[in-house]
Amino acid sequence: MAATPSPSPSPSPSPAPGSAASAPSVLGLAPVMPVVVIDDAADAVPLARALVAGGLPAIEVTLRTPAAPAAIRAIADAVPDAVVGAGTVITPAQVTEAVTAGARFLVSPGWTDTLLDAMRASGVPFLPGVSTTSEVVALLERGVREMKFFPAQAAGGTAYLRSLAGPLPQARFCPTGGIGAANAPEYLALPNVGCVGGTWMLPGDAVASGDWSRIEALAREAAGLGRPRG
Ligand code: 3PG
Repeated sequence: MAATPSPSPSPSPSPAPGSAASAPSVLGLAPVMPVVVIDDAADAVPLARALVAGGLPAIEVTLRTPAAPAAIRAIADAVPDAVVGAGTVITPAQVTEAVTAGARFLVSPGWTDTLLDAMRASGVPFLPGVSTTSEVVALLERGVREMKFFPAQAAGGTAYLRSLAGPLPQARFCPTGGIGAANAPEYLALPNVGCVGGTWMLPGDAVASGDWSRIEALAREAAGLGRPRG
């Protein structure tokens, strides 16, 4: 089972937008990060408790549904052992909305200079998304070494990430998109992968029926896939 991180990642003070310093680590929170798409904020707390009980404390709630900000707030207030973050953050306004709701890290599927500056200025750790080598180089140029690799399977999967490890060893990734229990270990074995994300431990029918014990069991299985992080 993955080690439970401190509930407080304690981000250090935010560097100025555009500065070379990186934000604190998101990749170090947990080897497997559940990606939550939530329709009913009332599900947020039992869902998060099930994930935490199964050993997955770092939870990304995507801002794809109207219920997401309330879900983030509910988890932040009621599940102290969770480290809740916001995903699918694509605008500066969403950065503010997420952090105001209690998000303790931010994840985006892609990035622009405007979004990157807003995420950096938020003071919480962030993972901008990339899917090409030039995007990786551009982030390194801006002092960002931790990235989401999305959509992982469609963008080249483990072969692509393995190819980046030679020329760009300083870049580290959280691949998401098309990852499940079967292929997560292959990603986690790569030297430049810090964690993987995905929805596989949150089947829609289990969430819809409130089958939290099934989600806890799937979370426990997923947490067991991660190797210890240094
Ligand atoms: C996402 O951000 O949507 C993740 O990539 C989830 O992808 P998955 O549903 O393929 O796990």
